[in-house]
Amino acid sequence: MIVTSAQLRLLHVSDVHATESGALYGEIDTLSRLADVAEYARAQELNVDGVVITGDLIQRGNQGAYPLVDEACRNIEATLGVPVMTVLGNHDDPEAATKLRGHEAGHTGVTQVCGTRIVRLNSQTRELGEEQLDWLSNLLSTPSERGTVIALHHPPAASHMPVLRKQGLRDARAFMRVIDGSDVRAVLTGHFHHSQSAVIRGIPVFTAPALSYHQVMHAGPTHVSGHNAAWFSLVQLSPHGVQSTPIELSPGAPVFTQVATGA
Ligand SMILES: [Fe+2]
Repeated sequence: MIVTSAQLRLLHVSDVHATESGALYGEIDTLSRLADVAEYARAQELNVDGVVITGDLIQRGNQGAYPLVDEACRNIEATLGVPVMTVLGNHDDPEAATKLRGHEAGHTGVTQVCGTRIVRLNSQTRELGEEQLDWLSNLLSTPSERGTVIALHHPPAASHMPVLRKQGLRDARAFMRVIDGSDVRAVLTGHFHHSQSAVIRGIPVFTAPALSYHQVMHAGPTHVSGHNAAWFSLVQLSPHGVQSTPIELSPGAPVFTQVATGA
């Protein structure tokens, strides 16, 4: 009950995998889902202060989709009246992605939202590298009014899926060393296409489920299996803590709907 007075609410969306034309895997309209997430947040009065999209904005090879992603992000901003902040994932193309607003001069950045500093990092190559970590270290040497949230694609925590176990951030230890003892209140990631929460060095690391397809945990030791399901998360920061709630965009039919008792 203590995380009810949110200082900051963020929609955490990940792994859009937008295509230039046609549906992803012949059936997934990823760009429509971006619009649907915004409409969901508006209709359900989630009252978010910003939207963070943690990478794989396009499906690899679909560089022509960036203008469409950009347009979709602008539409989200118009629907919700809040900024949309994006980072690159391993499917993204750093050169073509300069067509996105906020990426013209580079793929890192800082946005202040309600006193919280949102830092966008670029792990497109699966690592941050010394130069970016030095920049981050220097940035964090001055705390923000209400702390910092970091967004990047690759989680610094391992997945439980056997084939994804070694697909996290390559220089995770160096990254966590840099943010240890800073004002970072949460790290938001994607990439695994399944939700995951971890606490590393006392800092929450939330991996959002994917908007495009969900990778199930029972695919076996050598396979990945993507299922047509669209998820995102609602991240809330309060004076007392941080929480992340995965939300399914279009769940199955209800087995019951009734007035809650004992609320
Ligand atoms: Fe992805």
